[in-house]
Amino acid sequence: AQAALNTLDGKAPLVIAHRGASGYLPEHTLGGYELAIRMGADYIEPDLQLTKDGHLVAMHDTSLARTTNVEQVLGARNGNYRTSDYTLAELKTLTVNPSGGLAQETYPGFNPSSATPYKIPTFQEVIDFAKQQSALTGREIGIYPEMKTAGAEIEAKVFDTLVANGYKTGDKVFIQSFHASSIQNVHARQTELGYDFNLVVLGSASAINTLGLANIAAYADGVGVSITSAGMGQSFIEAAHGVNLKVHGYTFSKFDGTAKQQYLDFFVYGIDGVFSNFTDIAIDARTEF
Ligand code: G3P
Repeated sequence: AQAALNTLDGKAPLVIAHRGASGYLPEHTLGGYELAIRMGADYIEPDLQLTKDGHLVAMHDTSLARTTNVEQVLGARNGNYRTSDYTLAELKTLTVNPSGGLAQETYPGFNPSSATPYKIPTFQEVIDFAKQQSALTGREIGIYPEMKTAGAEIEAKVFDTLVANGYKTGDKVFIQSFHASSIQNVHARQTELGYDFNLVVLGSASAINTLGLANIAAYADGVGVSITSAGMGQSFIEAAHGVNLKVHGYTFSKFDGTAKQQYLDFFVYGIDGVFSNFTDIAIDARTEF
């Protein structure tokens, strides 16, 4: 790295594998997370939802229809395909679809090590995998769970699962949500129990500004901001840094000839982390910066 680092901590910006290497392999699968780790991701990002029987699973949409073969295997439940209407055992009968971007079920030169690379993983399985990969690669693979829904059950379970797995303050963990109230609740819970995991509120630049950067800084460590939202840019990042908030940008999803430049622009602005579908391009850009 040659250019000045304008990040809040002066360190290189983080490369966060958005739903795994989701530009190449099915999102939220062990196969996709593994490829991202192989490409050099600092963090893997699972979106989390609760099953009918209270298990946390990695799944972005409320509905299972887009990313799995639920329609063929299980059919609709209560007129819909909500994750919360199926048990974990049922979800384990499904396969995650190749979907979106360039996603496919193969990537040249890559063979997933998991026996079930394209099943829906539980949060526990994602954690186990990150720990296994950390041991294997000799570098700590961070995890960046997102609570997709709000509510006491998911807020408690995400935090308690991290603690039960031995994560401590200072480990490579960020907990994120679009629901500021959820982040406030996790902040209250972890403060009471003596933990200080990194917490991030998500939204467009205007949604974040409406909440107020200084208000957010009272309970969170950073904001995750849409890079295409009006008002997201250098002055926004500087304002956030002014109240000690990191800024992570979502979603870096380009894969054409302009992709690398987009990272480089935001690195100049001082962005602290990038949610990327193409981990390899993000790493290339960071190396070049
Ligand atoms: O967490 C940042 C980004 O992932 C938020 O968007 O919809 O992909 O969860 P989404």
